[in-house]
Amino acid sequence: MIDLFSEFPKLGDALPHAQLADLPTPVERAEGLGDAVGVDQLYVKRDDVSGKRYGGNKIRKLEFLLGQACADGAAEVMTFGCAGSNHATATAVYAQQVGLRSISMLLPQPNARSVRRNLLLSYHCGAELHAFEKVATCDARVQAELKRHRVETGKEPAVIPAGGSSALGSVGYVNAALELAGQVARGEMAKPDIVYVAAGTCGTAAGLMVGLRAAGLDARVAPVPVTDARFVNAAKMAELATETAALLAGRDPAFPAMVFSADEMGLREGFLGEAYGLYTEESVAAMRLFEDAAHIGLDGTYTGKGAAALIADARAGRLRGKVVLFWNTYNSRDFSEEIGGIDYRNLPRAFHHYFEEEVQPLDR
Ligand SMILES: Cc1ncc(COP(=O)(O)O)c(C=O)c1O
Repeated sequence: MIDLFSEFPKLGDALPHAQLADLPTPVERAEGLGDAVGVDQLYVKRDDVSGKRYGGNKIRKLEFLLGQACADGAAEVMTFGCAGSNHATATAVYAQQVGLRSISMLLPQPNARSVRRNLLLSYHCGAELHAFEKVATCDARVQAELKRHRVETGKEPAVIPAGGSSALGSVGYVNAALELAGQVARGEMAKPDIVYVAAGTCGTAAGLMVGLRAAGLDARVAPVPVTDARFVNAAKMAELATETAALLAGRDPAFPAMVFSADEMGLREGFLGEAYGLYTEESVAAMRLFEDAAHIGLDGTYTGKGAAALIADARAGRLRGKVVLFWNTYNSRDFSEEIGGIDYRNLPRAFHHYFEEEVQPLDR
């Protein structure tokens, strides 16, 4: 069910959409976890089960991004990320489901077991995988690869930005916020005061801000940066939120006009650690606590760092008396059987080292 289309029916005709996700995702009270960290009312939005085969936050964006690619008659999609990118993997999974082939242009990242799993699943879904050492070398190859594919297939692949974070991709999280507003209205949770969410390329948090404002839900989003400032910063997030709202208002005048400024983004800095993809002691401790107190499996790159921010704020007394929502954006579907028999040596050679070298020490 797409709440955005129920609230703004014209958007149902104006926005191509591929039905991929199982919506609404549940919202659950995590009492034991709340007690453990000192939050009276702590809830978790279960986007980890947003898709049957591969959950997490990317499927909501892909409903619109792949919907558009299909409407444009594309046969292939090209996207970008780091080697273990959840976005690139989700794109491979769901592009295949809608009959498109995917091409992933991938940069290096610290090794982790999740990197291996995601690479294998992307390969299993028929993704064409390319490895690059640097952003500049990747950028330099994009045009040549697009051309090669156009010559081979007769059509240029549709390009999906890193993390699916364009205005169109962010619409998936406008819908998610309206979905949450519906759950609040139905009494499935108390109205949240603050929503913690990991921020990698800004689209999830930007979409939530637009959707919460459209729903008239006075909740503050606390985006927790887990990539460096080139990819997450307040100016970029505000611009993306403004563009997302403008896209929707442009397609349906009933959608309220909105402008966002950098100083209202409220980024919760300080939890990235040394680099993207490197786990921190705090993220590992947060993962352990969520697992022990609520049986929620987080990851060390994104949600562990987001949860670490929530825990630090709770322990500092900043969340006293507040209704707090943690948006779980990490896939929890087990796909180990699907990838069990795959030999990593079938992947391009440049990816073999992820399987041959140790994972980072904190990935225990
Ligand atoms: C598990 C997970 N959580 C959060 C994010 C951040 O989302 P966004 O890139 O929209 O900021 C990502 C992707 O980057 C992700 O894979």
